[in-house]
Amino acid sequence: MTRKIKDQLRSARWFAPDDLRSFGHRSRLMQLGYGEEDFMGKPLIGILNTWSEINSCHSHFRERAQDVKRGVLQAGGFALEMPALSVDESFTKPTSMLYRNMLAMETEEMIRSHPFDGVVLMGGCDKTTPGLVMGAITAGIPMIYLPAGPMLRGHYAGRILGSGSDAWKFWDERRAGKISDAEWLGVQGGIARSAGTCMTMGTASTMTAIADAMGLTLPGASSIPAPDAGHQRMSAECGRRIVDMVWEDLGPERIITEGAVRNAATVAMATGCSTNAVVHLIAMARRAGVDFTLDDLDELGRTTPLIANVRPSGQDYLMEDFFYAGGLRALMKRLEDRLDTSCLTVTGRTMGENLDGAEVYNDDVIRPLSNPVYAEGSLAVLRGNLAPSGAVIKPAACDPKFHVHEGPALVFDSYPEMKEAVNDPDLDVTPDHVMVLRNAGPLGGPGFPEWGMLPIPTALVKQGHRDMLRISDARMSGTSYGACVLHVAPESYVGGPLALLKTGDTVRLDLPNRRLDMLVEEDELDRRRAAWIRPDPRFQRGWGWMFSNHVTQADTGCDFDYLERGHGPAAGEPDI
Ligand code: FES
Ligand code: MG
Repeated sequence: MTRKIKDQLRSARWFAPDDLRSFGHRSRLMQLGYGEEDFMGKPLIGILNTWSEINSCHSHFRERAQDVKRGVLQAGGFALEMPALSVDESFTKPTSMLYRNMLAMETEEMIRSHPFDGVVLMGGCDKTTPGLVMGAITAGIPMIYLPAGPMLRGHYAGRILGSGSDAWKFWDERRAGKISDAEWLGVQGGIARSAGTCMTMGTASTMTAIADAMGLTLPGASSIPAPDAGHQRMSAECGRRIVDMVWEDLGPERIITEGAVRNAATVAMATGCSTNAVVHLIAMARRAGVDFTLDDLDELGRTTPLIANVRPSGQDYLMEDFFYAGGLRALMKRLEDRLDTSCLTVTGRTMGENLDGAEVYNDDVIRPLSNPVYAEGSLAVLRGNLAPSGAVIKPAACDPKFHVHEGPALVFDSYPEMKEAVNDPDLDVTPDHVMVLRNAGPLGGPGFPEWGMLPIPTALVKQGHRDMLRISDARMSGTSYGACVLHVAPESYVGGPLALLKTGDTVRLDLPNRRLDMLVEEDELDRRRAAWIRPDPRFQRGWGWMFSNHVTQADTGCDFDYLERGHGPAAGEPDI
């Protein structure tokens, strides 16, 4: 392996020359209290930290950054921490997805414009993983991903609670009048009880597992619970390892290959991943120049057994149990024959080498391939006259009776309109109806909100129904479940066929054949298309305006067109 020498460090361009500009850079590090012996000739590691006081999932990141620094210093590097946009899932309106690309842009630009030789990316809450990784891929310097880790299991009154999933379940019980105010408050206090990301296999756990399976984290790092002392040790190891990655010139282009992307997708399917994985994985792959499509995902969804028995797709367990059962390395060991084990990872070793010695300690949590939770069906991609560019469903998380279903559409143009209707106890709706929400896609939402698990009308909940077929151009939370068709593309706001559907039209889902259609005559659809009026722009200024003008549709990852790899080469670094 060739190793860099000091003069070849990227940071040397800032600090080494005997000129006025470099004098300035050196004197400003001295202003921070560092001497030349701290930084000259040493890899400068940027710690991109998405800590924020309003990101409850990353509340331990201030301390973890110190652990990373400890590791960097031990390995002979120099570390500086820098804040990165803390896209938080819990509080951001209208949706955190509006800001994933902002984090990606910030990450890329801040890496490029500063003298970093390598970066540790600290993220975990849903959009932070793809945002940081997308930006760092394009920036191109060595990087390692430090996942926040899941929070501990939720607890209330002797019951184990899972993030998101159990909130929806208890909410339905509350709407049905089956639990008291006191119980509802108890759930509120018990469902999130430590630092860390949602501990179901929601978007956060899915995306950190994807980063892990792509070879971007230390092996198995994504499974370590946030409060575990092992998480601190992993953080310090990230610091030590990134210094060596700089000397080895081990950049993301050597790690994120087609094989790595397929490994990540296979692992996602085996975990019963969040549907959001589709959008983010495609966006990340495209940044790396890997052409990975919805059809690739559908193929892997058909052939990969779901073996992580973790809610919401699995029945019984949560991420803490998954960790004790051996974590992601153990799950990947079970899938080894289906993976490209030759892929290089941040350890400098192959994925196969990283999996050496991994073992499953609990066969009910991480099932053998011969006894999966579902033989297939983490994700399926549908097409038809309602979704010519594709739509996504999570077969394993919905009642099988909806896998083939035909029913009358009940169409809503906006979330408030739908909300009012579902709360109406006299709403004219049957369990066979197909609820539809449109104008909820990347441009229509705006920002592609997680509204896709449309609430079951109260009238049906009171009759005991807990699932029905629902269709939207929105996303849904990774912790959600049910017969929800999502990401319909093109979205209705830009005139996709969902815009033409009317209440009362018959809609047909045929999951085995991957079809989603409205049974409406072609000439009638032509008439409706001619009468369709494009809605007003959602934004007149600012980030929203930029987002509206450049975001791509769900099937290609919702990156900005001008940030995609094909748009042109990255700018060189300023040499002034
Ligand atoms: Fe942060 Fe779920 S809200 S991971
Ligand atoms: Mg989420």
